[in-house]
Amino acid sequence: MNKTIDKLDTVLDFTDCRPIGIFDSGVGGLSIVKCISQHLPNEHLIYLADNLHAPYGDKATTFITDRVNIIAKQLIDRQVKALVIACNTATVNAIDQLRKQVDIPIIGVEPAIKPAAIYSKTKRVGILVTQATARNTRFLDLVKKHAVGVEVIIQPCPGLVELIEQGEINSDRCGSLLHDYLSPLLTKKVDTIVLGCTHYPFLINKIENIIGHSMKIMDTAAPVTKELHRQLIKNKLCCAEKQQGKIEFFSSNPSKSIEKVCENLISQPVILKSF
Ligand code: DGL
Repeated sequence: MNKTIDKLDTVLDFTDCRPIGIFDSGVGGLSIVKCISQHLPNEHLIYLADNLHAPYGDKATTFITDRVNIIAKQLIDRQVKALVIACNTATVNAIDQLRKQVDIPIIGVEPAIKPAAIYSKTKRVGILVTQATARNTRFLDLVKKHAVGVEVIIQPCPGLVELIEQGEINSDRCGSLLHDYLSPLLTKKVDTIVLGCTHYPFLINKIENIIGHSMKIMDTAAPVTKELHRQLIKNKLCCAEKQQGKIEFFSSNPSKSIEKVCENLISQPVILKSF
């Protein structure tokens, strides 16, 4: 990950230590939080997981848009200086309308189609996504635009998000679903796989066990962190104080078991508050 992010240290003559709001349908956005807190360690973060409504992947656009607007309001009420939609499904379905309503920087997460298309030697790329991303026109337009001359196999993966939410990463069920979803990509001989859902980076080891280590796996945590940092600098929103940033965690359905899942994924203690 260090290799893909340029040096982020910058000398600043301004400071704004309000928190950055980050959200997802559930625990998946923690893959983005990990990268942000590693590379922007003095920023305060508020993470909001909409567990009560996860997964978003089997929901209609109107439902996802309503949830995004409710969550963005919650975070803005907590004085966040920027928003990160740490969810591909919410980004492709709701970022455009949210940008029209909110005047702080909003950074979304979209599958790394462009770098994958450039990287692929076989010119065959697989993308693992939720069902709601797979049918979304913004996503399909992105594929069309960036994958010229490249065959893209879009693989929806129902069931994976639920297993990750339940802390069932090592279950037989998770292994067998991954086999089912990766087989068509192996048959097509792709050489690059894009993780188009922020939950999936937590399955990288399992994916590599099935596909081997010769294929390139791409996720978006590093480019999103870089874009966030660029926006903070551009809008004079960086926190230039030298303290370690705090991370506060909120959930629409907090419980001890979800707290444990979060702790395992992010490797640090988590206290989940309700929102
Ligand atoms: N982590 C999500 C994404 O990146 C959400 C998945 C879901 O809730 O179905 O798409």
